[in-house]
Amino acid sequence: MAAFSTAYHPGSLLSVEHLSIADVGQILAATAELESMDVAARAKVLERRTLALLFYESSTRTRTSFELAAKSLGATTTLVSDKSSSIEKGESLKDTGLTLRALGAEAIVLRHPASGAPELLARVTGLPVLNAGDGMHQHPTQALLDLRTILLRLGLNAATATAQTLRGITIVITGDIRHSRVARSNAMLLPRLGAKVILCGPEELLPQEAAELLAGVELPANAGVEIARDLDAALERADVAMMLRIQKERLLGTALDLGEYVKRYQLSQARLGRYPKLLVMHPGPIIRGLEIAGEVADSPQSAIEEQVAHGLAVRRAVLVRALGARA
Ligand code: CP
Repeated sequence: MAAFSTAYHPGSLLSVEHLSIADVGQILAATAELESMDVAARAKVLERRTLALLFYESSTRTRTSFELAAKSLGATTTLVSDKSSSIEKGESLKDTGLTLRALGAEAIVLRHPASGAPELLARVTGLPVLNAGDGMHQHPTQALLDLRTILLRLGLNAATATAQTLRGITIVITGDIRHSRVARSNAMLLPRLGAKVILCGPEELLPQEAAELLAGVELPANAGVEIARDLDAALERADVAMMLRIQKERLLGTALDLGEYVKRYQLSQARLGRYPKLLVMHPGPIIRGLEIAGEVADSPQSAIEEQVAHGLAVRRAVLVRALGARA
């Protein structure tokens, strides 16, 4: 995996590539510890600390959970959005970051449409930067919250991580994988913990080269990334189905027929009926009736709302890590 550059504050979380398995275990352990703390004691963990949320793209889950996580730890937060700040007047990411630092921000949570923007911000400010999703690149906290959801739903230990943690577990990821930072982060994290990840979809949404995502990375036996074009065959082998949004706005100019896609790749009620033990996940936003049927999203096999709740829990831990505080 890519080495973490010393140009960045060590509390930064820019990519799952920078996390060792021990780091992942520490984040999971801190998540569990913070979750079990008395509410009043937890509200002192980041007391008098200041955090900026800098969002250049819309978000419901990530933004709200980072904000609520910070507030539950006693931190002061400020939200800066591209729609209501001097970014609208053309101020650069660098100058926005330096301004937030001058105002006392000790860490910045950044969502940005450009891949690599969090690295730039971390380098120019020297602050811990938490990547809340950058372009088609990475969404590291999503992969961590997905990991916690899988561990808890499958009855595994969710307070530690080793190269064997997900041994024997197969996760199928289906949807617009080509454009998905969630797919990329999960596919680059879960096999290192022993999982088999099957990326499934048509060529338009899943280039064959995606099979090389972990090329050169040492993996546990039977773990890795595979490509599949047949969802039913992939689901036969799966413990978990992670459905992704079809990003209609990114499909202009492709030959994808949405009706055909729904027939071949939607997780429909009929399909789910054949797999009564399958755990259903979706990072959101969900487009009901496209990649997933509404009844499937609402079914007892769905962990979608749990994913959101684990997002709050995991983000507490990465904020404490960023600010060097002890729980
Ligand atoms: N999963 C996710 O990133 O959702 P939001 O875009 O609502 O933050």
